Amino acid sequence: MDKQSNPQPIQERLDQIVTAAQEQIERLETLANDDERVASIEAIRLRVLGKKGELTELLRAMGGLPKDERPIIGALVNEKRAALEARIDDAMTALQARAQERRFERERIDVTAPGKARGIGKLHPITQVTRQIRDIFVGMGFTVEEGPEIELVKYNFDMLNLPFNHPARDPQDTFYIDDDTVLRTHTSPVQVRTMLKGKLPIRVLCPGRVYRCDDVDATHSPVFHQMEGLVVDKGITQGDLNGCLEVFAKELYGEDTKVRFRPSHFPFTEPSTELDVSCTVCGGSGCRVCKGTGWIELLGSGMVHPNVLRYCGIDPEVYSGFAFGMGLDRIVNMKYGITDIRLLYENDIRFLEQF
Ligand code: PHE
Repeated sequence: MDKQSNPQPIQERLDQIVTAAQEQIERLETLANDDERVASIEAIRLRVLGKKGELTELLRAMGGLPKDERPIIGALVNEKRAALEARIDDAMTALQARAQERRFERERIDVTAPGKARGIGKLHPITQVTRQIRDIFVGMGFTVEEGPEIELVKYNFDMLNLPFNHPARDPQDTFYIDDDTVLRTHTSPVQVRTMLKGKLPIRVLCPGRVYRCDDVDATHSPVFHQMEGLVVDKGITQGDLNGCLEVFAKELYGEDTKVRFRPSHFPFTEPSTELDVSCTVCGGSGCRVCKGTGWIELLGSGMVHPNVLRYCGIDPEVYSGFAFGMGLDRIVNMKYGITDIRLLYENDIRFLEQF
């Protein structure tokens, strides 16, 4: 190469490279997205300043310059190079700042915004009433027993002294799983299970779901709830039954509540009685709820039939007992003035929220 060549071409080339790069960077501002801008600037950096970049090539070409010109041109290249580097860094910094701003915007939270209200769960009204009744009897020394909802015919009917032709056994009324197994039609089989355990005396309360073949309407449901009670000890009399249930009725409905026992019939009790309480709505003067009678039927009860005691291995000459059973759904409906039993089973939050 001609050692005397004019440095002008190198300088011109230098200006060309740097100006082109700078213009390109300016133009990038019009590109749609910052990711593309970052990628393009990186490409420019590599093309111009990289190891095999245009400026590096240019410096290498300086070998062809006269010795005295080399430092001058070298300084010039380095100066331009530094300026371009600075320009690129600025552009990158600006893009990064923008990216961060966008991130902050995305992640922005208003710490003064009011919190989201979380609904607080509540106990189903049937659970609430079950617990209220349970607490009354636990206060009188009862414990709670539960039994299976799929029950043996033996416990649901036979050992409760139901004659084989009793209408309650009819498949029209009872859900049979097979000849020996039913969905229990009442909580009374838990009595049998408790007595069969052979531990005396007994004072148990048995709440639970029961099933009968009823079509759904405002007052019927094929599944409903009962609460059974059983007391077995030496010397238990009708007086104990009456006293215990009167205390219960007054605890449940208030001191002023009046009770009356009506004779009734259940195969598993003898004698059998039904307990009425003075109407919780009108107090006894007669209204729509008590159909003008002033009384509301609360539960069935009676002295445990000697046969039942015998079937369960308890000597009726030594022991006696009383039992009672009540429908919880009706008690819940009365308590809250609910006129449609279906509401208890539909689990509509708007309904359940009210309790
Ligand atoms: N099991 C009876 C019913 O379902 C209620 C009851 C229980 C009556 C215990 C007397 C004694 O109607």
